[in-house]
Order: sequence, then C-alpha cells, then structure tokens
Amino acid sequence: MSETHESAGIAENAKNAEDKAAAKSAGSAKSAPVISVRNLWKVFGPKSHRIPGDPELKDLSAAELTKRTGCTAAVRDVSFDVQNGEVFVVMGLSGSGKSTLVRCLTRLIEPTAGTLEIDSHDVLGMDKARLRELRRKRAAMVFQNFGLLPHRTVIDNIAYGLEIQGMAKAERRAKAAEMAEKVGLAGLGQRRPVELSGGQQQRVGLARALAVDPEVLLFDEPFSALDPLIRRDMQEEVIRLHREEGRTMVFITHDLSEALRLGDRIALMRDGEIVQCGTPEEIVATPADDYVRDFVRDVPREQVISVRRAMRPADKSEANGGAELSPDTLVSDAIETMARGGENLRVVDDGRTIGVIDYACLLNVVAGLDEDGEGEPDKGKEVAAV
Ligand SMILES: Nc1ncnc2c1ncn2[C@@H]1O[C@H](COP(=O)(O)OP(=O)(O)O)[C@@H](O)[C@H]1O
Ligand SMILES: [Mg+2]
Repeated sequence: MSETHESAGIAENAKNAEDKAAAKSAGSAKSAPVISVRNLWKVFGPKSHRIPGDPELKDLSAAELTKRTGCTAAVRDVSFDVQNGEVFVVMGLSGSGKSTLVRCLTRLIEPTAGTLEIDSHDVLGMDKARLRELRRKRAAMVFQNFGLLPHRTVIDNIAYGLEIQGMAKAERRAKAAEMAEKVGLAGLGQRRPVELSGGQQQRVGLARALAVDPEVLLFDEPFSALDPLIRRDMQEEVIRLHREEGRTMVFITHDLSEALRLGDRIALMRDGEIVQCGTPEEIVATPADDYVRDFVRDVPREQVISVRRAMRPADKSEANGGAELSPDTLVSDAIETMARGGENLRVVDDGRTIGVIDYACLLNVVAGLDEDGEGEPDKGKEVAAV
C-alpha cells in the first residue's frame, strides 16, 4: 500500500474524529461510561491471586516476576472508561496483554483482581446466566480467525446468535439477510464460509456480531489476517458503521495506522500495563515516554495534529483580518491553505482569535519540534488566548 494511501486514511479519520467530537459535544449531558475498568489484573500461573495484593511482588518487572514466582502478569493494574458511542482502541506489541484484557471484559478469561462494570452492572459479580446474557446480547465479539461454523450458510452463521436467543427461524433469517446487506454481503447468503474470501468471511463475523444488536462490539485484531487492501476496506466498513450507528466499540490492534484511523481514544499497552491513554493527537503530539515516542515516530504528524496545538500567541496587531481557521483544523489542511494564500492564518474559536499560525508553526509540527523550533518534540503546551 502506498504511503499516500495510508496517510490519506489517517487524515480522513482525524476529520471523522472532529465530526464525532462535534456531534458528541452537541449532544446531551455526558452519561455514565458503558465500560468501566478499575485496577484490573490477570495473572497466569501458580498462586496467581496473591500477586496483585503483594507489595513486594506486584511491582516486579515481567521478567523478574516470572523468575521469582513462575507467574505471568498479562494485565497489570489497568483502569479505563469507555464512553457511549466511543471507539476505544487498545494497541500494543504482540504479547503486551491486549487479548487477555479484552477477554477479561466478558470474563472469557477470569480476571485475578480489580473491578469491572458494563452499563453500571458489576460483571465480576454476575452468575453464569447473567454472564451468558452479557455475552449474547450486550457485548458481541469479532475474532481474528472469524470463528465461523463451516457447515452453515452465510445467513445461518449470521443468524447464530439470534438462534441461541431463541428467535424463530423466519424472523432470524430475515434479520440476518438485513445484516448481510448492511456489511456488503448481499447475494452471498447461501454460500458456505469455504466459498468466501478472507475479507468476506470477516464480514460474516461482523454481521453475526451486529445481528444481536449489542451495546458494545469487541474486536480482537479482526483484520490482522487480511490483505492490506481488504483490511483497508474493512476498516472503512467499521468507520461507516460507527458513523451511521454510533455503536460503542473496543478495538484491539497491534497496528498503529489502524489505531489512528479508527480510535477516538487509544490505550497503549506494554507488558500488561497501559502506558498512555489519549486521543490519537495526544498520543502523537505528547508521547508519555520513550516507548510511546518510538511507537509513533513515523506517523505523519501534520495529519494528526491540529492547529490548536501548533499555533503561537497572536500579537495585538494580528487579532483581526486575514484568513481564519477553526482550532480543530489539521496542520496538513493549514499547510494547504497557507501555500495558497501565502499569509499567516488566524485560529479563531467562537469569534475570538486564540492564536496565529505562521510558517514556523507548521514546519515545527512536521519536523517534530516545539514552538520555539528547539529541543525535545512538542510537549503540547497550551498557548495563551488573546
Ligand atoms: N493461558 C495463558 N497462560 C499463561 N500465559 C498466558 C496465557 N495467555 C496469555 N498468556 C501470556 O500473557 C501475555 C499476554 O498475552 P496476550 O494477551 O495474548 O497478548 P497480545 O494479545 O497483546 O498478543 C503473554 O506473555 C502471554 O504469553
Ligand atoms: Mg492477541
């Protein structure tokens, strides 16, 4: 896949994120988070339960912990909230604990310690029946290996969750056909999985999850096995579904460009811990440590960072006149505007000039420097309003 193709995708999502942010802030008061996780641990190994509460053991590095106890802390003291309608991405290298974390959310893996609520219901206190209901109706999972039933048709695979819920055949097939159409599988309903491409099979996986109309969709690296172009198609499908339905999603990936394209917020994991959680712009502009900085080193910064972060304070003489930008404008768009007009740009919020963009501001973003054009990459300083 070409660099431009990739980059365009990131910019496009940053725009979507702006739309979404605007739509959200225009909405009603903030509701309770859909998912709320506090101090969650999953330790594999002998006597794993003692580790989260043991002050001597809980802070050991992964390697030391394994050496001393034979245990692996796959998820360590993780806390986060996922808001209604949000796409929450969990990113990290292989082995960082992503799958364990997402499986803990519906107790496909039993957490070792911590608290976990979905829709304000205590998930760790649920009995078997309520857990089953949670997995069937509230939180549907889409897996990397598709998990389709080979002897069933596309329609009957999509209808599987509805069948388990006890929906009558005609009704569930009608619903499944509707879902097949929604994810671009119209006309393929009578095929078996083996007669489909990888991308089509994952569309079946997606439709099956959507069919039960879940509160939350959980994706564990669903597109990793797909060719880059098909993968790209599937990402757009997810973006489209999210835009049209505003469904809450937790999306696991090890791929940074996928994370930037899809995420409203990204949690970056290393050795079971969340090392940083923020918007794509925050992660790229103000990496929390060298690990994160390394991770985002090759991102085209101008396609993720907005002029609010790139601007400098305006002089009195600059407070009026000239071209205006909204604070959420991407630096890449400001570059284009400036290249056309040749003049400095005012950043205007609510009719007020809050800063100015000049050539140096734009170049600093591209070069990864701070506003003075010096030293460490930009730490996202706030600029005083005029
Ligand atoms: N059932 C298990 N028993 C022991 N260790 C496990 C088990 N499942 C995962 N792990 C370990 O937990 C860590 C995190 O694994 P995983 O959640 O699969 O990471 P990721 O999905 O980010 O690749 C790894 O070190 C892995 O080896
Ligand atoms: Mg995994």
